[in-house]
Amino acid sequence: SDYAEQLKAEIRTLLQQKNAVLVAHYYTDPVIQALAEETGGCISDSLEMARFGRDAEQKTLLVAGVKFMGETAKILSPEKTVIMPTLEATCSLDLGCPVEQFSAFCDAHPDHTVVVYANTSAAVKARADWVVTSSIALEIVEHLDSQGKKIIWGPDRHLGAYIQKETGAEMLMWDGECIVHDEFSAQALEKAKHLHPDAAVLVHPESPASVVEMADAVGSTSQLIKAATELPNNKFIVATDKGIFYKMQQLAPNKEFIEAPTAGNGATCKSCAHCPWMAMNGLEAMRDALLDHDGREVFVNDDLRQRALVPLDRMLGFAA
Ligand code: 13P
Ligand code: SF4
Repeated sequence: SDYAEQLKAEIRTLLQQKNAVLVAHYYTDPVIQALAEETGGCISDSLEMARFGRDAEQKTLLVAGVKFMGETAKILSPEKTVIMPTLEATCSLDLGCPVEQFSAFCDAHPDHTVVVYANTSAAVKARADWVVTSSIALEIVEHLDSQGKKIIWGPDRHLGAYIQKETGAEMLMWDGECIVHDEFSAQALEKAKHLHPDAAVLVHPESPASVVEMADAVGSTSQLIKAATELPNNKFIVATDKGIFYKMQQLAPNKEFIEAPTAGNGATCKSCAHCPWMAMNGLEAMRDALLDHDGREVFVNDDLRQRALVPLDRMLGFAA
């Protein structure tokens, strides 16, 4: 629409004026992803967002995603101004892992190495030995297991179960889940596969084990995009947020991407899996954040920041 075009033009100008860069996740609206690309920002998974933000030369990061992504950016770059379209965009994994309870869980098992998913608060990260994202969780747990470490894993129980199955590591699990991926259903997926027998199945490991077991490729958002380009199939059933279709279609324009069904949707699905918090990122809010930081700037208390930086740096060092 005209209004969207006007907002995009304003955002382009403001990014320049304010020496800011847009860092967006694959689950945000395609309009936002296209704008990030066009303006020299980044669209990526959470690991790459963290790296890009840390290495960016601009003094302001406009993070389009959810709260933990903004916090991670601030922890890694305290000297930068980190703004978000809204500070209300959270994540069910973050919400389901309050630091007091999680700390008590860790305190009860002092001989365990604490590994937390990036989808957590700065305070939970500050209690951890390692932070991981889905693109590097397997390698890091494998590494820890090979050193004979026993692991406390939080908060995503599905991702944890997948990693435990793959690595055989000894893991105590926190009981959290992503409300978006938890909805995918093996039974409904079975029916969808029946409708599209030539399709390969791509699954984010935040999905239930029964769904992960049906996958031709399992991985982070960037790993699923890679699989979509590399697998020979022309059709894919994709069990993750549909925002990812923007990049998949761009890189594989002749392939067809179908949303994996959730339990309530039978075998077909028009708009099943969409993270409600990622969807809170809109053009108007982005423009407003660039115009006035008030109420849209991310702050992390300094003591917390320094403690959370240790396990985050460990991850980035391992990934390098
Ligand atoms: P990725 O790191 O794979 O992009 O995952 C982030 C996320 O929130 C998945 O739901
Ligand atoms: Fe969190 Fe799930 Fe949304 Fe990702 S898709 S931000 S894990 S609620």
